[in-house]
Amino acid sequence: MELTHRPRRLRRTESIRTLVRETVLHPGDFIQPLFVIEGQNVREPIDSMPGQFRLSIDMLVEECKVLLDLGVPAVNLFGYSEEKDPQGSASYRSDGLIQRAVSEIKLRVPDICAQTDVALDPYTDHGHDGVLMDGEIANDESIAVLVRMALSHAEAGVDWVAPSDMMDGRIGAIRVALDDAGYERVGILAYSAKYASCFYGPFRGALKSEPRERDDVPKDKKTYQMDPANIDEAIKEIALDIEEGADVVMVKPALAYLDVIARARDTFDVPIAAYNVSGEYGMILAAAERGWVDRDTAMLEVLTSIKRAGADMILTYFSKDAAKVLGG
Ligand code: PBG
Repeated sequence: MELTHRPRRLRRTESIRTLVRETVLHPGDFIQPLFVIEGQNVREPIDSMPGQFRLSIDMLVEECKVLLDLGVPAVNLFGYSEEKDPQGSASYRSDGLIQRAVSEIKLRVPDICAQTDVALDPYTDHGHDGVLMDGEIANDESIAVLVRMALSHAEAGVDWVAPSDMMDGRIGAIRVALDDAGYERVGILAYSAKYASCFYGPFRGALKSEPRERDDVPKDKKTYQMDPANIDEAIKEIALDIEEGADVVMVKPALAYLDVIARARDTFDVPIAAYNVSGEYGMILAAAERGWVDRDTAMLEVLTSIKRAGADMILTYFSKDAAKVLGG
């Protein structure tokens, strides 16, 4: 048989496949989300996220060293707060948990890119990302608190703040406040297209941050996080964040939204991040535990798909393991 085209020729050996590979993962693509807790020498396993821990600041610093040695350039910090009130006022103290964690990291592991989550849910007693007023999450009042939170992180020396709250106009407000205070160098990683997703469940368990079951509290985050059915709206949200001064824009979750990542890649010329969230991590772990998929192969396949879709960087709980497998 005479065939002009034989694509299989380029799949014949591992060396040939390496030469024609279009997407290559690298430890430098990853950002490891880390959970910080008060105390010393604490490395508390998170039930809902096997392999992930709540770390006291001393252990956090050690983890940052390990990650950087493996070639992972960044960490994104979330605080586990026992102190919760309606306004989330523990979020912006200059001597708060995250603020101390950032200073310590920048002192001891200065080369790692330290990023912080900016949202109120770990600090509010109702579990929402903003301030609750008359049974609703108040947009502009929430921004006022988020700006204070971002400034306190900047003061501690953070490299990037990462607002994950989805309030309208918060990127512009944070950018202006940072610049006015002399923090022009602090970057903004904006959770621009963040969907109201069920895949955040294990994360909420890690921080005890799920919206509380109370009559005066909205039971979900659908009035600020996006409807999973929408993609044009994601493009609009991303455009607004870029206009307001975002340095990097993010799509979250990643796997059920690969089309959104791809469309953002085609539309915008800015760095794009994707968040491979806790539920996506959990699905692979659970299936691997049952022997239904091979854990490491699934991990790399999924991370490759996110990069192939167009993400320049990936927030993933697999950062350390993937960097090890990739030989970082
Ligand atoms: C909250 C926040 C969430 C995540 C990151 N920041 C949860 C939520 O919006 O309820 C989820 C991350 C994950 O699931 O891995 N500001």
